[in-house]
Amino acid sequence: MSVFNFYGRIWGRRLSPKLQFVHDHVLPLVDCSEVVLDQANSLITHNLSWWMEIGFGDGVHLRAQLENYPHVHFLGVEVFRPGIVHCLQELSQEEQKRLLIFPHNVHLLMPKLPLERFEKIFILFPDPWPKQRHHKRRLLQNAFLTQCWNVLKNEGQLIIASDVVPFIHWMQQQLKAHKGFRFVQGACTSDPKEWPQWPAEFPLSTYAKKALHKTYFIWKKIRDR
Ligand SMILES: C[S@@+](CC[C@H](N)C(=O)[O-])C[C@H]1O[C@@H](n2cnc3c(N)ncnc32)[C@H](O)[C@@H]1O
Repeated sequence: MSVFNFYGRIWGRRLSPKLQFVHDHVLPLVDCSEVVLDQANSLITHNLSWWMEIGFGDGVHLRAQLENYPHVHFLGVEVFRPGIVHCLQELSQEEQKRLLIFPHNVHLLMPKLPLERFEKIFILFPDPWPKQRHHKRRLLQNAFLTQCWNVLKNEGQLIIASDVVPFIHWMQQQLKAHKGFRFVQGACTSDPKEWPQWPAEFPLSTYAKKALHKTYFIWKKIRDR
């Protein structure tokens, strides 16, 4: 199985005329696919604060962070078109300048990104693929963690959230086994009794709003691994 296969949904129901307008006229303004695949080095520059969210869904968390941190530039990655257009509704011109969208499979993007550019990578409620035979599809495989390690600045953070206990256990094991990251904050085990409170300053994504028992964990990139 190749990582370039994508198993989720790209299109949902037909878009309303308003969302179709956003898709046709706003998405092209922030869609970085062509440039990022060719000249990512000049697009994602060293001197700015870059954060990335992978699988941002409908962008509720991404938009809140964009609003809360006006110095931050965001690269949003998502394949689900209706989610992307929801995220782009009512985007101000100022926000538009600080946002890039890669509307395709993240596995096409990661090898093209320049090294050591991102301060934070958010992966919120990634698909848990519960069946054993589908575990290969889970995002946080060792090779993917190395790609995250490559593009994070030193001490850059990987911020993950989920509500699926066995999957949380698997992701924490993956991070421990990788050795390129050190635990910083949040849940350090998969036991819900030990999970800390969700921090008030951490905006909820749509999945986070729906999940009753959820947690998050932050690991930072360490120089030697
Ligand atoms: C369970 S949803 C979570 C959405 C959002 N992060 C939230 O918390 O509300 C996972 C999202 O990841 C996206 N996704 C999964 N695999 C992806 C990939 N390889 N590249 C880009 N997006 C992906 C899916 O399309 C989906 O929108």
